[in-house]
Amino acid sequence: MERIAFYDVKPYDRRWFDIFSKDAGLELRYLECRLTPETAALARDCVGVCAFVNDDLGAETLRVLSECGVRAVALRCAGFNNVDLNAAQRAGIHVFRVPAYSPESVAEHALALLLTLARRTHRAFTRTRERNFSLDGLVGMTLADKTVGVVGTGKVGMKFASICRGLGMRVLAYDLEPRWGAGLEYVRLDELIKLSHVISLHCPLTPSTYHMLSRQAFHSMRPGVVIINTSRGALIDSEALLDNVKSGKVGAAGLDVYEEEADVFYEDVSGKIMRDDTLNLLLSQPNVLVTGHQAFLTDEALRAIAEVTVENLRRFIAGEAVENELRGGVEAQRA
Ligand code: NAI
Repeated sequence: MERIAFYDVKPYDRRWFDIFSKDAGLELRYLECRLTPETAALARDCVGVCAFVNDDLGAETLRVLSECGVRAVALRCAGFNNVDLNAAQRAGIHVFRVPAYSPESVAEHALALLLTLARRTHRAFTRTRERNFSLDGLVGMTLADKTVGVVGTGKVGMKFASICRGLGMRVLAYDLEPRWGAGLEYVRLDELIKLSHVISLHCPLTPSTYHMLSRQAFHSMRPGVVIINTSRGALIDSEALLDNVKSGKVGAAGLDVYEEEADVFYEDVSGKIMRDDTLNLLLSQPNVLVTGHQAFLTDEALRAIAEVTVENLRRFIAGEAVENELRGGVEAQRA
């Protein structure tokens, strides 16, 4: 049986990975720690490692993995901004990912954030539990006939655009590679930013998308704009977002991702002092809703992630071609 070191395991990962790995004849070594240069040696004697979004797959980690005999990294996610693909190639390590597991899960989570903020149901929930049925401060916004700007019209962005059309919204779209013929109204990014009541981000994090929503971009937005980010935190300049929430320019923000999330997300840090004041202040605002990178977290998506990740490894070990392999030279996504 070939061994795989499975880093940063959470209880919800095991259900489907246990089933699919057994069928594929793989032995998973579950590790609760994240993958870093310091923990990489725990993969000794393993042919591969299975890693997630906040694992460190920089050059130093890959060097240690290679010394330990690891030949494959199977990412159980779509994004690969945390992997130095060129270093992996130099170390002779193959890298695989799960390019699409459930774009519906992510798009529906973006919708959940949007509807919650538009109708203040997060505030109603806490109020009515205290038998407070007052409606003061709960005046919402109807989404029908509003304009939503969808940035990135790949698998998730397309689903989200289609949901928004179902709500009767006008959809503006921006993408480096527009899908002409998909019925979307493509505009320039600066136009989308200026015209949209809601801006939802669905493009990857790359050097060119880093801080795409910059201080200047916030300046040209409509007053009261709603920002939704289920993509990657560093697409937004968080300090500029906070300043614009405080000034009232941003009407609401729904964030499933945060630029410095690696230090806190996926963990219970409720008993600890949180030093990130930007996050502290964002969390304290009534019109900011943060979820801890959970847009992917549906049973359907977890099943698909486990099935494809295990199949990627099975094929690699069997010497078969793996279509989900990433290669060096791809535009490096930023951490
Ligand atoms: P995709 O690859 O299908 O679509 C991305 C789209 O962004 C493509 O159409 C591409 O042309 C476009 N794009 C690339 N660079 C751009 C730029 N500079 N400006 C505008 N558009 C650009 O990816 P998919 O599956 O739709 O996922 C989108 C993002 O969602 C991923 O990159 C990932 O960061 C994030 N994600 C978040 C999850 C979560 O749990 N919060 C789960 C899965 C993905």
